[in-house]
Amino acid sequence: MQPHRTIHVAASRSYDILIGRNILPQIGEALLPLLGNCRIAVLTDSNVDALYGNRLMELLQAAGYEACKYVIPAGEASKCAENLLAFLNFLAVEQITRSDAIIAFGGGVVGDLGGLSASLYLRGIKYVQVPTTLLAAVDSSVGGKTAIDIPAGKNLVGSFYQPVLVYCDTALMDTLPADIYRDGCAEVIKYGMILDKELYGTLKKVPFERESVVARCVEIKRDVVQQDEFDNGLRGLLNFGHTFGHAIEKLSNFAVSHGSAVAKGMLIAARMAPLCGLCDVAAELATMLAAYGFDLSCPYTADEIYGSLLSDKKRRGNKITIVLPKSVGDCVLVTVGVEELKELLHKTIG
Ligand code: GLY
Repeated sequence: MQPHRTIHVAASRSYDILIGRNILPQIGEALLPLLGNCRIAVLTDSNVDALYGNRLMELLQAAGYEACKYVIPAGEASKCAENLLAFLNFLAVEQITRSDAIIAFGGGVVGDLGGLSASLYLRGIKYVQVPTTLLAAVDSSVGGKTAIDIPAGKNLVGSFYQPVLVYCDTALMDTLPADIYRDGCAEVIKYGMILDKELYGTLKKVPFERESVVARCVEIKRDVVQQDEFDNGLRGLLNFGHTFGHAIEKLSNFAVSHGSAVAKGMLIAARMAPLCGLCDVAAELATMLAAYGFDLSCPYTADEIYGSLLSDKKRRGNKITIVLPKSVGDCVLVTVGVEELKELLHKTIG
């Protein structure tokens, strides 16, 4: 097997995350001890299918698996109830049974939809994440959060359901369009900002060395998930920039991509921090985000963002927990009343 790193996650279901360059050809070898002889339903999107769909199917067949494939249109709009039901129906028509498995082969949309389908179909079957975007590799494929979007908001329907394996071939990211790769960079910068000053320092060299940075981000996420799998505290740190980012994504009807929205959201949070008695790292963060090519303008007013974030799933009654930086590599969870947040947004965005 090609050299790779293995990161073990000890959660309600324990599993390995394999990270390496050009490891896809050995996927059969990695699956066999976990899945045995079973049928595999591959979920992928139109972009990934065009580039790598046949290759994965051939590799699975060469490893002795009978595999079928379901392709959804690429894009956030596909993370919807209609596609969830259609894929579940496909699994039934293909007679996928409890001893069979799903492979989610793609970015965050495919991973979230595939994971949710796996948690629901026959009350739960095994699934494997094979992330093909930087964002999925460092964030959505790890930690077992699955979801679809509904008209009222992003990720509002979902489950915690851990995969049996995450298999990350970093060479698959070579073909990513620059803007999609940049989306993942926002999440990478997030990890540095919330928990790892040293990682943040290495990101000043643009572009960063992909494999080691992916591995470090996954280690950070693993450490957080192991302490708070079901998102009752510490895991909230991973939402740095996301409360405001999700609001912006939703307001734009997803025309602003997740990574771009998170970049804007992180900057809003950094600008808000001094208003809450914390340090001002906004200029530092803005320089870093600009070096990766992010547009840092905020196209919405404070009232618009406030209205949009009221449906955020992190809201509990009239309180919402936001993540604010104390310094580079150190963020805190701050719970504020929604009215207070409205005022803070007005002071931050104007
Ligand atoms: N993406 C944030 C989390 O997995 O908790």
